[in-house]
Amino acid sequence: MAVFDLDMIKSVYARMPERVEAARKIVGKPLTLAEKILYTHLWEGTPGKAYSRGVDYVDFAPDRVAMQDATAQMALLQFMTTGRPKVAVPSTVHCDHLIQAKVGAVDDLKIANEKNKEVYDFLSSVSNKYGIGFWKAGAGIIHQVVIENYAFPGGMMIGTDSHTPNAGGLGMVAIGVGGADACDVMSGLAWELKMPKLIGVKLTGKLKGWASAKDVILEVAGRLTVKGGTGYIVEYIGKGADALSATGKGTICNMGAEIGATTSLFGYDRKMAAYLKATGRARVASLANGIKDLLRPDQECIDNPEAYYDQVIEINLSRLEPRINGPFTPDLAWPLSKFAKAVKKNKWPEKLDVGLIGSCTNSSYEDMTRAASIAAQAASKHIVAKAEFTITPGSEQVRYTAERDGILDTFNSIGGVVLANACGPCIGQWARHGAEKGERNSIITSFNRNFAKRADGNPNTHAFVASPEIVTAFAIAGSLTFNPAKDTLTNEKGEQVKLDPPLGVELPPLGFDVKDAGYQKPKKDGSNVKVAVSPKSDRLQLLDPFKAWEGTDLTGLKLLIKAKGKCTTDHISMAGPWLKYRGHLDNISNNLLIGAINFANGTANKVKNQLSGEYGEVPAVQRAYKAAGVGTIVVGDENYGEGSSREHAAMEPRHLGVRAIVVRSFARIHETNLKKQGMLALTFADPADYDKIQENDTFDILGLTTFAEGVPLTMVAHHADGSKDEIKLNHTYNTSQIGWFKAGSALNLIAAEV
Ligand code: F3S
Repeated sequence: MAVFDLDMIKSVYARMPERVEAARKIVGKPLTLAEKILYTHLWEGTPGKAYSRGVDYVDFAPDRVAMQDATAQMALLQFMTTGRPKVAVPSTVHCDHLIQAKVGAVDDLKIANEKNKEVYDFLSSVSNKYGIGFWKAGAGIIHQVVIENYAFPGGMMIGTDSHTPNAGGLGMVAIGVGGADACDVMSGLAWELKMPKLIGVKLTGKLKGWASAKDVILEVAGRLTVKGGTGYIVEYIGKGADALSATGKGTICNMGAEIGATTSLFGYDRKMAAYLKATGRARVASLANGIKDLLRPDQECIDNPEAYYDQVIEINLSRLEPRINGPFTPDLAWPLSKFAKAVKKNKWPEKLDVGLIGSCTNSSYEDMTRAASIAAQAASKHIVAKAEFTITPGSEQVRYTAERDGILDTFNSIGGVVLANACGPCIGQWARHGAEKGERNSIITSFNRNFAKRADGNPNTHAFVASPEIVTAFAIAGSLTFNPAKDTLTNEKGEQVKLDPPLGVELPPLGFDVKDAGYQKPKKDGSNVKVAVSPKSDRLQLLDPFKAWEGTDLTGLKLLIKAKGKCTTDHISMAGPWLKYRGHLDNISNNLLIGAINFANGTANKVKNQLSGEYGEVPAVQRAYKAAGVGTIVVGDENYGEGSSREHAAMEPRHLGVRAIVVRSFARIHETNLKKQGMLALTFADPADYDKIQENDTFDILGLTTFAEGVPLTMVAHHADGSKDEIKLNHTYNTSQIGWFKAGSALNLIAAEV
């Protein structure tokens, strides 16, 4: 079943030679792969100038958009308001986040289909209407489905999920974004990104023994830490890189998100060609072979990386030992030989309760076979797995093929439970028995993240991250202090037995197979498709356009909250139980700023309603102001809105009638999100003015009638004692962004174009 768009790939490859040549001349030196792809995807077409890495904002034209079900809802609700008849670039929706793991694949999927019917029906019909490929619940996890079907060397895509970089395993620049950005690209607009800096990771040697591709990124995370990749694209080069399977490369790129990297990628090679052929894309491989030098960094960059990358790391794969990272953060990397000692020293619970393999990070056929080779040894050597053991295949294609090849039976033989092809425990969709008791315990996963509470909601679950084969060996041993490279286990007969290193098969010898991949092709003409959203729904709500600016300065605004200290998008729009309202703006607005700390009382979710004089919860107080027709402002500290790119954190205050967010500084993506939703995002020219804001203040924001690029605004804070302060406010709006403010939102302007 060919679901990819061959014509689009042909057109990218047709323009690549000329654009790369032009870029090489302008940049004046050999090019890395990331540069070749970025310069090929400039919105302006042929590059007119060399962009400064880490400095210049650049408009790009991505080839594709992918969305997972939790984020697709708001992205598509926004897209619907643009009046576009169809998406401008090939796009897909993947139902993977809303399936809860409880007993096993079949039952869990059935329950999810019932519970989420309304959301799935909406996503299916909206996809059908606007020409979007739709992958049903059970079809697989977004990134595995993308690498199996859509990723292609030299391409550029954005996805509404932070692990979108997984597609870098097939040589693509693939970047995680918020739904508003996806909406722009689907509407045919440019997508802006600061030209990333580059880290080159040179891989030499060859993996052996228990070491796997996962250990490369676990090692990189240990060296660079969770912040080390921020603003960078990580490019893997060298002979060691070419020796890794395409899906192994995908694992490494996937977890680049854990070091904050913009994305990660590998150059095109024989492994990628083999994977493309095995997944029904021989034509893509042959097109890529035709321009293969353009799909790799120039040789000078590999030979002398220090001259072309901003930072270089070297890893000798021959000496790489397996890593176990954690607990509570993915950059705490322990070599296998030192891990048992660390467990004892830190008094982490030694008994291992559950081993979980799969997720978008590690659920390829190769991963399954390597883990199964360990499980098969346990079965044949009469060892019973001591910990619980679960498997989440990344896609129906992998699951079906693994079942056909007896791999799932092997897992069953040691007590493994196969869960639905979905995110499940990786995103906290895990009805783990007893988690509510909050007991200290340990789990180990082949996932990518291990923050407190992420998997099961229990803050005392110590989660460690490793390769699927190490996870399987640990689950068999039931202990965190087991070292499969040297320790023995006692089998049912009382004998001491040892596990041999894993043996994997990169691609299925009988080929991939699947009966029903779970794909719904959109109608050619979707104009008659009705999109079903019940006005009574508590999970979905059509969006009304935000009101345009009234054309005057804003006066008589009240203070909703002056947030103290860290205020991330989680403080502004909490996740967890609120995930289910991601498609209903009014309902999710009931979490507005409930995590922010009020400077006036040091408490979360308790602010003064100046109209009644009483204290109440933030959303309720804001609703009272809205009902009375009184606008408000929110005041914040440094880096306001850091964290995820979810646009709900900008849409909620806008929806409830907040007029301006005034802070010491913004996290960039959140600032852009606020601007896109027609909100005023302003900063104190003098950060000390933050201290002048008092709980009972009333504000005027002046200068809006002459609002212009580079010209500060003025805020007058009227204090309760009759005194007042005039405060200068800076902003970063350019002329077109001022247009968004005036129109009420960027979407209103897009809609007006139709
Ligand atoms: Fe899903 Fe976990 Fe990946 S939530 S998309 S499996 S990181």
